[in-house]
Amino acid sequence: MSAPNSLFVRACKGQPTESTPMWFMRQAGRYMSEYREVRKHHSLVEICKKPKLAAEVTITAAEALDVDAAIIFADLLLPLEVMGLPFHFSAGEGPVIERPLRTAQDVHALRTDRAAELGYVPEGIRECVRHWGSKLPVIGFCGAPFTLASYMIEGGGSRNYIEVKKMMYNQPEVWDELNRKLIEVLVAYSLEQIKAGADVFQVFDSWVGCLSVEDYRRYVLPHTTELVRRLKTTGAPIIYFGTDSSTLLTSMQETGADVIGLDWRIPLDQGWQMMNYEPAVQGNLDPVLLFADWKEVEARADTILLQANNRPGHIFNLGHGILPQTPVENVKNLAKFVRDRSSEMRAQAVR
Ligand code: CP3
Repeated sequence: MSAPNSLFVRACKGQPTESTPMWFMRQAGRYMSEYREVRKHHSLVEICKKPKLAAEVTITAAEALDVDAAIIFADLLLPLEVMGLPFHFSAGEGPVIERPLRTAQDVHALRTDRAAELGYVPEGIRECVRHWGSKLPVIGFCGAPFTLASYMIEGGGSRNYIEVKKMMYNQPEVWDELNRKLIEVLVAYSLEQIKAGADVFQVFDSWVGCLSVEDYRRYVLPHTTELVRRLKTTGAPIIYFGTDSSTLLTSMQETGADVIGLDWRIPLDQGWQMMNYEPAVQGNLDPVLLFADWKEVEARADTILLQANNRPGHIFNLGHGILPQTPVENVKNLAKFVRDRSSEMRAQAVR
């Protein structure tokens, strides 16, 4: 823990704050000229593996935007490599896993004893903490077992998730073994990030929305709950985020995560109410709104703050990551607007 009294950490714990803390998923990416400049000289994976560079990218973005938290620059897929599944990013196609998992033997062969080789990520977090001290909280992250298993089995992005669902339905014991192995690696990797000073930890279940409630509860919830339970032993608040997850929210809440990330498809107040306002919530402006004229962005951000209605435990974010080509000015203006408008709303409430 480096910034336990920050607005962001307090909001994650459901405590009142003087303004609504905000940060943006994928806040350090291709939409930013500073990042594109670094990418001219280094590949994505190279940046991730050089802690000083990863910290520099993290710090530059958070300071340029003036947000309330920084997410360490890394990628969801890094743990795949140490489990024995090499991958690369191909232009236009996104991530490509070179030999996707299909059989029980493939799963048996996965390694779980090399998480320490991901030490460059905690080292990057340490660099950020050295830079900021208690001034700005740092977020560690990992992929949720389901989303990582999808990449491992499908071999990349997928439209219908046929191969991953085939493994769940036809070989449930192999599916469970894969999840146990993922959790072993993810717990070791995540605990190191928290030990290095990450204040809050986010679990990304980006593709969970392809599942029915029944399949989520049977094949995913027990494993994700186990991951969240083990991360919560550190005391760091856990954010659990999924997209297309409106039907899954009450099940996702059962993982025990402190904060549930909402995508933009559901009104923030409706999603929060569905969960009886028990967890804190993070979200949920449509990332594509940032392509609209500023007046529209402002109006929609205002709607979200009004829906949150000064209730403690709201962290402002987008409903998914910032897209390449997003106008940077809109992102900077949004951060300022959320801070100013939410402070004003708090002041009005006490009058
Ligand atoms: O500051 C930040 O928020 C960025 C750090 C970050 C990256 N990846 C770096 C990255 C984070 C938080 C991620 C998480 C991630 N990676 C997710 C979960 C978040 C989500 O959006 O749901 C997922 C699904 C991945 C896997 C992945 N990595 C994909 C699908 C892609 C896009 C491939 C493409 O070509 O568009 C990546 C590449 C990637 N990871 C980029 C960045 C900045 C862009 C590619 C580049 O710089 O070359």
